[in-house]
Amino acid sequence: MIHIKEISTQETFPIRLEVLRKNIPLPYEFNGDFDENTFHLGAFEDDNLIAVSSFMKTNNSNFEGNQYQLRGMATLKEYQGSGAGKLMLQKAFIILKKKNTAVLWCNARIAAVDFYKKQGFQTFGEKFEISLVGKHYVMFKELK
Ligand SMILES: CC(C)(COP(=O)(O)OP(=O)(O)OC[C@H]1O[C@@H](n2cnc3c(N)ncnc32)[C@H](O)[C@@H]1OP(=O)(O)O)[C@@H](O)C(=O)NCCC(=O)NCCS
Repeated sequence: MIHIKEISTQETFPIRLEVLRKNIPLPYEFNGDFDENTFHLGAFEDDNLIAVSSFMKTNNSNFEGNQYQLRGMATLKEYQGSGAGKLMLQKAFIILKKKNTAVLWCNARIAAVDFYKKQGFQTFGEKFEISLVGKHYVMFKELK
């Protein structure tokens, strides 16, 4: 059974590196990782960390109200499709609503767009390129 817990910034690094930075020479540490408003969630099967996600209080000028940005969303390959990503987001929605957050947004890789849509996100605007990673859409979910 998978359960979700808050984890430290450092605990996110191995899975970010493995899933999001393989053959991509970009840092696995993000601006805002250690900010006081940032929190990180981990999905555990038994005691094994199998997925990570990070939530940073970052505004996107396309949206209004209190905002958080989702970053570093990653599930180990052998556990993808087993519900870890969905459970982390469900937990995040509860935490973010308590923080009076109006909008959660992210820069979504094309391959993950349908995953986010299943969790209630919509795309915003046109696709754009992030160097070394590929095409992305801004996606957002209203939490109120
Ligand atoms: C995208 C990702 C984070 C999803 O996490 P996950 O733990 O595999 O997702 P879940 O198992 O919770 O899936 C929830 C639902 O979305 C579906 N889903 C998962 N990934 C999907 C994808 N890439 N495209 C379409 N649907 C997807 C699942 O089948 C499941 O559907 P269901 O509710 O009908 O059963 C994960 O696959 C991943 O790490 N991918 C590689 C890195 C990546 O692209 N990260 C996102 C960067 S923006």
